[in-house]
Formats: sequence, structure tokens, C-alpha cells
Amino acid sequence: MNIHSADATTAEEALSIQEKFDSETATAVAMQDTLLTPRFYTTNFDELDAINVEHIRDEWDPLIAQMVSDPNKGHFKKNADWDQVDWDGMDPALRKEFIDFLISSCTAEFSGCVLYKEMKRRGSNHEITQLFQLMARDEARHAGFINDALREAGVAVNLGFLTQKKKYTYFRPKFIYYATYLSEKIGYARYITIFRHLEKHPEHRFHPIFKWFQEWCNDEFSHGEAFALLMKTDPKLTRGHNVWWIKFFLTAVYATMYVRDHQRPAFHQALGVDTDWYAHEVFTKTSELSKQIFPITLDIDHPKWVPTLRKLQAANVDLANAEKSGAKFAALGARLRAAKAFATLFFIPAKRHNVPSQTRLEPCY
Ligand SMILES: [Fe+2]
Ligand SMILES: [Fe+2]
Repeated sequence: MNIHSADATTAEEALSIQEKFDSETATAVAMQDTLLTPRFYTTNFDELDAINVEHIRDEWDPLIAQMVSDPNKGHFKKNADWDQVDWDGMDPALRKEFIDFLISSCTAEFSGCVLYKEMKRRGSNHEITQLFQLMARDEARHAGFINDALREAGVAVNLGFLTQKKKYTYFRPKFIYYATYLSEKIGYARYITIFRHLEKHPEHRFHPIFKWFQEWCNDEFSHGEAFALLMKTDPKLTRGHNVWWIKFFLTAVYATMYVRDHQRPAFHQALGVDTDWYAHEVFTKTSELSKQIFPITLDIDHPKWVPTLRKLQAANVDLANAEKSGAKFAALGARLRAAKAFATLFFIPAKRHNVPSQTRLEPCY
């Protein structure tokens, strides 16, 4: 019997270890479903199960072999590198934002785990179920590790409760591909940017979990590679009117990250990271990576890009305040401003480019 989720070889094993712990507040936060909080997804599993990887086998097999070799087995566990965390001595604003960050990250990791595990359970196509089992394994470890960190602060997310009670949003498979591919790649870009920054500025590493980010983001990188290959099995997914959907998901994922990160000023200040710089770094890396499969990237250097993101962020702050005080008219106004800002971002002309015939990439940042 394994004693830690880091040593688990399947998602089920990792989760049964985590289910022993819970905390009401953290779980309540993780249960929230807003535009900005991580959601749980469900999809048409039969359509996914019907994917044929035969004509991408030269790229598929090495990726699966690498995931099967499991380079991160045993990695997601506290060891001698895990320094003592002074939760009580932490600035209260930082503590609040950091716990919020951990809960949101844990929910996002777990959301991937639940979706991948379900695909593995429902499918009969060996290629597909094997891939999803491997990804579910990784996400269960990631979620378990964040829960370990949270537990030290006296909170933990009840993963079993979430599985049963959190609302599931239905997405068609193609939307799952776009959204999940991007969230894996942006996850890689976010974690590696923080990791590289803290390598140069270790004095800002206020919590040991950041030391684990390099191997962690390599898992996310592989998951993104898998979704790029899944999309490659059907060229229609990245052509014609679907390019508009790709643009929609790029805009939504980037804008959500910008707004959410700007809600955590104390957290980014403690890391010594300027949130605007960080956003631009992460967008640049994600755009560069997504050229492997998407025929467009967003023009993040367009003169309207940053000012409109700021408007979206301001509208979002006003909306939260209006909702808190029950000011319905003000809330409606803020919502319209947010919608207008999103539409402006969406209609900034995208940059087109040719997609390479070889899709696979290695982590390079
Ligand atoms: Fe993950
Ligand atoms: Fe992932």
C-alpha cells in the first residue's frame, strides 16, 4: 500500500490517500463556479474514444513511452528541500491570497484529473484510455501535493466531495481540446516563468512549493503535447470556422489569467513579480508554443491589447463590488463594460502563420 499520493501509480490510488483529509472553507471556495474560478468538465466520451492515432503514430508513441517511463514518480512529496513555512508570521494579505492561489490551483489540477479519469473509465480505445490514465495519474499527484501544502496552513480541499457535488459543465470534444490544450500549455508557461524568476531571485521564494515547479510544468507540457496530437488527428479542427473558436479560447484563457492574477497583488509583490510583465511573458511563451498546432496567435503587442485588458480588469473589480453591496444596476453596467472589453480583445486582428508538419516540441524555457 502506498502511503503518499506522489508514489501512487494511478489516479484512484492517489485520490484515496487524499480523501482522508478535508476542510469546509477550502472546499466551499473550490465549489464556487464563476467565470474566473476553475470548473469541472464533462464531454462526449464516445467521440473521444473513436479517435484514431494511426497516422500520427511516429509522434504519438514516443510521447506515450515518455509518460509511461514516469520520470516524476515520487517527486511530488515533501523532502529535505521543503523548508519550514511560517504561516502564522506571514503577512495576512499575502497569506489570504496565497491560500486562494493554492485552492484555485488545486481545483484546476483536480478538474483535469476528474475529466481524464472519466475518459479512461468510459473508453475502450486502448490508445486513448492509456493516455488519459497517464494524465489523470499526474493531475492526481499535483492536486495531492498542493493539498499537502494547504494542510500545513490548516486547510485542505475535500476532493471526494468535489467530485460528487461540484457542477459539471458540458463541452463538446473540440472545445475540450482547445480549452484543455491551452490550459496545459499556459500552466507550463506560468510555472516555468515563476521557477526561472525565483532561480534568479531566491530571496523571493516565500514558500518551498515553488522549488517543485520545474518538474511539475514538464508534466503539464507533456499533457499539452498530447492534446496537440489529438487535434492533429483531425485537420478540420484547426481550419475554417474553427479558427474563430481557437481565437475565442485564446482570448478567454489569456483574459481570465490577466484578471485573476491582478486580483492577487500581495502574492505577486511577495514573489517580486510585476503582474503586467508576468502576463506578457506567459502570453509570449504560450503563443510561441501554440504555433505548433494553431494557425493563429493573438497580437499581444497590439496598442489596444493591454489597455483593454486593464478595462476588463477594472470592470471586473466594479462588478465584484457591486455584487457584494447588492447594487444591481451598477453590476449590470460593469457586466456590459466587461463584455465590451472582451469583444474588443476578440476583434483585434490575429497573426497568421504556417503550422509545421512535425508537431512535437520539448520544454525549452
Ligand atoms: Fe497538473
Ligand atoms: Fe496537466
